[in-house]
Parts: sequence; C-alpha cells; structure tokens
Amino acid sequence: MKIELIENKIFINRGDSKEEIHPFWLRERLDGEEFLDKGTQQRLFDPSSMNCEVAVEKAKISDGFIEINFNDGASSKIDLNKLASEFSNKDTVIKSINKIKWDSTLKNVKNFEYKDNFFDSKEMHDLLVSFYQYGFVIIKNVPTEDNFIVKFANSIGSVRRTNFGEHFNVRSKLNPNDLAYTTLHLTPHTDNPYRNPVPCIQLLHCIENEVSGGFSTLVDGYTVTENLKKDDPETYKVLSEVKVRFRFTDKNVVLEDWSELIHLDEEKNFKQVRFSPRLDYVPILEKNKLDFYYKARKKLSDLYNSEKNRIEFKLEPKDLMMMDNYRVLHGRTKFDPEEGKRFLQGCYIDFDSTEGKLRHLKRKFNL
Ligand SMILES: [Fe+2]
Repeated sequence: MKIELIENKIFINRGDSKEEIHPFWLRERLDGEEFLDKGTQQRLFDPSSMNCEVAVEKAKISDGFIEINFNDGASSKIDLNKLASEFSNKDTVIKSINKIKWDSTLKNVKNFEYKDNFFDSKEMHDLLVSFYQYGFVIIKNVPTEDNFIVKFANSIGSVRRTNFGEHFNVRSKLNPNDLAYTTLHLTPHTDNPYRNPVPCIQLLHCIENEVSGGFSTLVDGYTVTENLKKDDPETYKVLSEVKVRFRFTDKNVVLEDWSELIHLDEEKNFKQVRFSPRLDYVPILEKNKLDFYYKARKKLSDLYNSEKNRIEFKLEPKDLMMMDNYRVLHGRTKFDPEEGKRFLQGCYIDFDSTEGKLRHLKRKFNL
C-alpha cells in the first residue's frame, strides 16, 4: 500500500487498484498544533460545520510525511504511517486476534501469575490476548482480602455494577434470589441474559474452597455454534433467527430483554450466545415452527451439556477467572456444604475495559 501524488491529487495505491483520497478526509486529519490537541488527541476544530468543498492546492511527499496546503488556508504535515493505519476501515487490535476453538480436549492454556505492577505490564497484554483467543483466562495468586476483585476489575477498566451490587458473594444461603447461591449443580449457562446490555465479562475469584465437589465447568459457545453451523445448518438458522424473552424478577426490579440464543453480527458472523434455560420463553409461533424450535433448543442444550464440549477444573483459593460472557458458558458441579467452606466473589466488567487496556498496552510496548 502506497500513497501517491499526481497533480495535487492524492491517491492510495493498493497494488491492484488506485483510488483518489477525498481531500476532506485528509483535511479532517490535519494534526498540526492548531488542529489537534496533543494531550487528548482531540480536534480543535469542528469539521461537521465546515464547507466540505475543500481542495488541495499544493502537496509534497518526503521523509515519510505528506505536506498539504488546502484552498481554505489550512496546511499541515501528516505522518504517512498514521494515515495508512486508517485504510483497513476496521478495528485492527481486537478483531486481529483470532478466536481459538476448544472443547474437552483443551490443554496447555497458560495461566498467569499475579504480581506487583501487574496491570500495566507486558504480562497483562499477553493475558488479554489469551483471553480474546480462548474466551477465558485464569490468574493465580490474586490477593483475597478486602474484596480485592473490585480493585482488580477497576485496574483493568471499570466494574459494571448491577442490582446484585458492585460485586457478589457466591456462597449458599437461605432464600436465595438466584440458583448460584445454592449448593446445586449448575448446568452451563451465560449470566444475566435478561439485561440490556448483557454484562460482557464475568470475573470470579476463589476465596475459599474446602469442599471436594464444586468444580467449575466451562463450554466454548463459539466452538459449539461454529460446529452447529457446519453440521446442522437448519438448526443453526432457527436458533439464530428466533428471538426469545429472558426475564428476571425480584422484589425491586423486573429485568427483561429479547434475543436469539445465537446472536450474529451484521455480517452474519458469531457475536454472542445467551443460554439460561430457566429464564427463556419463546413467543407464540405457529405450531410446526415451535415444534422445530423446541427440537433445535434441545439439540443446543445437548451440545452445551455434552462432556465432549466441557472442561472441568477446581478453582483454588486466590485463583481469579475471567470469562467472556458473550462466548463462554459456565457452570459448577454440586457440593456438600458439610465438607467445609466454599466462597467465591464475582463481578462484571464490559468489553470497553479489556479493549481499552489492550490498546493502551500495545501502544505502551509498541506491539
Ligand atoms: Fe452464572
């Protein structure tokens, strides 16, 4: 990719094609002192209020910069590399990390070790890349005192507070408002499918775990979805088209949202799964359509609950797990509270936290 100049017109040459760059696109990107605040990288002018009939009067390319004089009197030198980084028209940090499909055969995923200055380290960069590859990551040796999970979350980005509080304590209790607070086996599910928007990432920190059961289970919704798309396109189609209602009620709130169990993006690629079969209600449809929907949901449930797709492990005290709640389903095996204590703390953060931190660390370490 190269930027070329022909008679005051500026072109982008992609090898197989050459296109003129709109002069206003360049005018908006002037980064001299009078145009851009160096600290915030925010514009000091408002291009939306300007006359867009701008033309290049004079331009020169030298030493990796393009120097442009516009007919409205503005002029500046722009770094060609900085311009080139905008030509892909999409996010080059997060989307460039390829998701790795996994099932019960998954092994050798790196665990990370908490240490001083962890949050601004190269280790944190690698951790976030691994998180985007697998949809979860485990950090060992994270301090457990004073609700440290909140500090941990706020050191990556910001806690996403919900009606369960800034963080929640997962231990069995009397009159629970969610099955998480019992000793029951929890089948694979995603959290809070009834929220708009659904919390993106769950952090779960093991404080005490003295029981022999209570294993954590994870299933990669991305792998299950992609396999289903290939093996059973009809089932995939119905699950990615029918919107169902998720609802949560307690004394103070009624939360409700509608979504497909497999939610695709504008390009029909995987975006999010929601699965919480104690909370979902399909709308009334023709009987034969519902017949097909119920079979499709059963098939999806069988896949999520299959041993073939599940990994199972025990969280040790000081282990902190981060899970992508749009991709990975989680659950736990039942446990006997008579055997000892089991106490986990959880909270949520959103993707802006991990994305913002990852972009910052790439900039910091020049990666
Ligand atoms: Fe959960």
